[in-house]
Amino acid sequence: MRQKIIIDTDPGQDDAIAILLALASPKKIDVLGIVAVAGNVPLNLAKKNALKVVEISGFLDTKVFAGCDRPLKRKLVTAENVHGKTGLDGPDLPEPKIKLQKQHGVDYIIEALRSHKTKTITLCPLGPLTNIATAMQQAPDIIGRIKQIVLMGGAYFEVGNVTPSAEFNIYVDPDAADFVLRSGVPITMLPLDVTHQVLTTQKRIKKIKNIGNETGKIVSQMTVFFERFDEAKYGSDGAPLHDPCVIAYLLKPKLFEGRQVNVQIETKSKLTLGMSVVDYWGITDIKTHPRNVNFIRNVNAKGFYKLLTKRLALLP
Ligand code: RIB
Ligand code: CA
Repeated sequence: MRQKIIIDTDPGQDDAIAILLALASPKKIDVLGIVAVAGNVPLNLAKKNALKVVEISGFLDTKVFAGCDRPLKRKLVTAENVHGKTGLDGPDLPEPKIKLQKQHGVDYIIEALRSHKTKTITLCPLGPLTNIATAMQQAPDIIGRIKQIVLMGGAYFEVGNVTPSAEFNIYVDPDAADFVLRSGVPITMLPLDVTHQVLTTQKRIKKIKNIGNETGKIVSQMTVFFERFDEAKYGSDGAPLHDPCVIAYLLKPKLFEGRQVNVQIETKSKLTLGMSVVDYWGITDIKTHPRNVNFIRNVNAKGFYKLLTKRLALLP
């Protein structure tokens, strides 16, 4: 059965690869729309980058929308230091020819959930949760219509990447993350704990480059740029390929392992703002701390890259 999804994204090289993986799997995934959100880069760049990625894929009818340009309450924090000034540094990509949809991305999410059969759409946030929380707050009736949310965000054993205690997507808009995690929608979280197991090692990227198509070349150029920051920080061979874990989870959930736990977001403390507090060992009382998240902790990295490389080979 094809899974209907809406991708919410702040491209970012890893977002781009996640979008390509989804579009390269049309028999398994029906990408209803892509909604840009401010995160890695401001919205004006995120929306343009989403258009560029759709053009790389060749699926030019894919609808792209612009969503929120800032977090619910806080000042926007971006990550050009990681993703470059365009947000998609690495390959030299042309200005997109395809156009954005006129409708606001949040209105699109609401309309899509209201017009499709209930519990048939999966939301796939790859950036801050601003659009998702805004849609839920503007139209509470859609909450019960969402099949599930499969998101990249959070961290526990791996601790933070933008502060010692917080992962970037959650940190940028902790209020949105808190609202979404309390919504009661079935949530699967792909945190740094799992994304740090899928490093873009030279061997893996060489295989992608050697696919021989334009997509393989562009993806290898993206990762070569994107990984320099994490290699310097962690001293690793390659960088974590965060966002494609969301799509790989939809395609092959058996590659992943996790457990249903209580996860809460710190929205007040300056010291630990944006921390995802994960009751991994079930210490809290289920009556006061619902097990609201399927928290993914491990992945078969070999299987992940085999899937990614195989699917990217199907694109132009
Ligand atoms: O912390 C990693 C996340 O932040 C990824 O989604 C990356 O694209 C950035 O948005
Ligand atoms: Ca992202």
